[in-house]
Amino acid sequence: MINLNKKIKQIQPSATLKITAMAKKMKKEGLDVISFGAGEPDYDTPQYIKDAAIKSINNGETKYTPASGTDELKSAVVEKLQKENNLQYANENIIISCGAKHSIYNIIQVIINDGDEVILFAPYWVSYIEQIRLAGGTPVIVDTTVTDFKLNLEELKKKISKKTKLIIINSPQNPSGVVYSKEELTGLAKILKEHEEIVIISDEIYEKLIYSGLSHYSIAQIDASLKERLILVNGLSKTYSMTGWRIGYLAAPVEVAKAVSTLQSHSTSNPTTFCQKASVTAMKTDSDDVKKMIVHFEKRRDLIYGLLNEINGFEVIKPEGSFYIFPKISMTFNKKYNGKEITDSTSFAQVLLEEKNVAVVPGVAFGCDNYIRLSFATSDENIKNGVQRIKEFTEGLS
Ligand SMILES: Cc1ncc(COP(=O)(O)O)c(C=O)c1O
Repeated sequence: MINLNKKIKQIQPSATLKITAMAKKMKKEGLDVISFGAGEPDYDTPQYIKDAAIKSINNGETKYTPASGTDELKSAVVEKLQKENNLQYANENIIISCGAKHSIYNIIQVIINDGDEVILFAPYWVSYIEQIRLAGGTPVIVDTTVTDFKLNLEELKKKISKKTKLIIINSPQNPSGVVYSKEELTGLAKILKEHEEIVIISDEIYEKLIYSGLSHYSIAQIDASLKERLILVNGLSKTYSMTGWRIGYLAAPVEVAKAVSTLQSHSTSNPTTFCQKASVTAMKTDSDDVKKMIVHFEKRRDLIYGLLNEINGFEVIKPEGSFYIFPKISMTFNKKYNGKEITDSTSFAQVLLEEKNVAVVPGVAFGCDNYIRLSFATSDENIKNGVQRIKEFTEGLS
């Protein structure tokens, strides 16, 4: 048997992809499964974006581009950041990657040395923690379940140490749906200003999926001086329903951008050529498709929030963005369903899937074992039926 390297042995496969794959397999076997596992919009990629990719292929744009992406797409990103976020960058600051996940992976690889500490707010997105470990870093967790998922700045101050190299923030957030306000980000910026050695990743992949008339703020807008050590990450996946196209990007100080470009040149080479071309069209078109999707998501957010709130014992915070909701379900622990005991979020998800054919993601994957994550990127009918089954499940516990 081949002895794998010690870093890969330490990390777990993505729990969200695992649960989605399990639910798909059960569906294929003919079971009536309702999945709340999806990490992607349930809408098709808009036709004008598909047409742009097809045109690009037919024009012969099927060869390598520069490893860090095409100038055309970098310029579209620069224009977007200027127009929508009031942030000034040049093409040399931008790297196009194979998805935002790839952008974050690359940044962590070029920034982190063995033993460096990286601060995350829990609940956190599943991949951060494993990417940090893969780079030899040590995740340091700030709990936000005690501050209703808002930035827990008092706890943050206690967790900053001489070894802190990086902090990752994500707003709108996966899995809680929280959106950091201008005031919260101002508080965070104040702390970070006192620690000039800390690099910041701001993951803004859900920027456009924001509800109740709230606005998205990037921490770079709050305090321009942080831009020198800030890397902004965004991508096309969620906003344009382009998860499978694998295009994400980062905006960084030139030395970081250059290092990531070098890393990409020896790993993935360029992101897919015609997907980059179609991304330019996506970003430059003011489309109703995206606006409609956001309106639908807001209605579904209201629907799922209302229904989950009716479940006795669940504690639910209304998401302000993204397409996830993260109820506290620990009141079900130490109870049984059909003789099967629930002891944590993993056994909750497991028994729920086996007994009611409903797939949810255990909160432990996001660093919070008392919770589960549901994605509301699914139809109203699925939301109504699926939450009804969860309700029956909790009522059947003894
Ligand atoms: C918080 C967060 N960041 C980044 C990503 C990565 O998105 P992609 O690699 O598809 O651009 C995701 C996807 O689920 C996410 O939830």
